[in-house]
Amino acid sequence: MVRTKARPFLSLLLLAFALHFGAGPAAAAEPIKIGFMAPFVGVYTQLGVDMDRGFKLFMEEVGYKAGGRDIKIFTEDTEGKPELGPTKARKLLEGDKVDMIAGIVHSGVAMSIRDIVTDNKIPLILTNAGAPDLTTTKKSPYIFRVSFANGQQDLAGGWYAYNKLGYKRMVIIAPDYSAGHDKANGFMKYFRESGGKVVEEMYPPLSTNDFGPYLTKIADKAKEIDGVYAFFSGSGSIRLITQYQEYGLKEQIPLFVIGDTIDDSVLPSMKDAAIGVRSYHQYADSIKNPENEKFVKAYKAKYNVTPGTFSEQGYVGAKVIVAAIEAVNGKIEDKEAFLAAMRKVKFDVPRGPFSFDENQNVILPVYIRVVEKKGDAYGHVIQDMIPNVDQNWKPTDMKK
Ligand code: BEZ
Repeated sequence: MVRTKARPFLSLLLLAFALHFGAGPAAAAEPIKIGFMAPFVGVYTQLGVDMDRGFKLFMEEVGYKAGGRDIKIFTEDTEGKPELGPTKARKLLEGDKVDMIAGIVHSGVAMSIRDIVTDNKIPLILTNAGAPDLTTTKKSPYIFRVSFANGQQDLAGGWYAYNKLGYKRMVIIAPDYSAGHDKANGFMKYFRESGGKVVEEMYPPLSTNDFGPYLTKIADKAKEIDGVYAFFSGSGSIRLITQYQEYGLKEQIPLFVIGDTIDDSVLPSMKDAAIGVRSYHQYADSIKNPENEKFVKAYKAKYNVTPGTFSEQGYVGAKVIVAAIEAVNGKIEDKEAFLAAMRKVKFDVPRGPFSFDENQNVILPVYIRVVEKKGDAYGHVIQDMIPNVDQNWKPTDMKK
């Protein structure tokens, strides 16, 4: 008697439990859909290709599965154009019905979809775009960044230029859009506060193909300066570094550049023009740790080239997403639980230790590197490292 009465009650209880926690077997079987936005044409093509390769490499390592669910990727080409961001994001959200978006190289593209992802409660995991506002004044509980805020590594870089390399007077050259100005401002902050003098700032258009007029100006200042800071990336960086040598400046004035400008992926195109160029960045394929050794080996085996910063950022983005999906046992529909799991991610990645700050922006090691040629190959030799650089880094953090 007791048994027959208890059975329907028990079934109802189980049903209510499953509905409440969204854990029914049918829900668990649905694939998790991730939109991936990157440029596959234009100056930042190499960055988009590398990020995409790194992202997919990690997804392959986990068999495109996490938390008991399949993962499906939907890719959109942003062409690196901010005006295309909203259209591409809406296609992913309304057409493909993605659960989250990852990728994005250009800061303007990321800014253009900030309100769309926030209003739709869609997690956005940035694997490059460094617009600092997205993790400060315009931060959102839905936006995470695994790469850097523009200006972040540069705070440490500018301090290092004056205090460790002894550069007292420098020229600055960076592209004339938000990322160029944000990185240059980050660099100049502690360079100037330490006593350094910025002799000239130059901001050529992002699409510059001939740096001749700017390099002539730098040559005119050769006697007044002891270093040049540069940020350009993708095809722009290849032109800048090769022309710097062609104009005879390499032997006269040392470059000290942010790593995007001399990424592993573009070294084979720069050839000997890259030798001796010193830079600062969070990644180099020569970093010695088990995570990086595994990553470099797998990347070379799959793509037959050495990974660079953007490949690693894609790989890290995928690894962070998978860790958070695992932490909620695949129940990403519980948004609050998923966002909380994202915030807690802390582990080792190829660049070293990984964690987010309280504004969901990554904390990084910054390596000082110099390009050398070994046999036929060009690569970065690591000379120094500044640990735990966050977007508000100060020189006094060195002593902590
Ligand atoms: C940016 O737009 O934030 C960016 C683009 C390329 C390299 C680094 C940053």
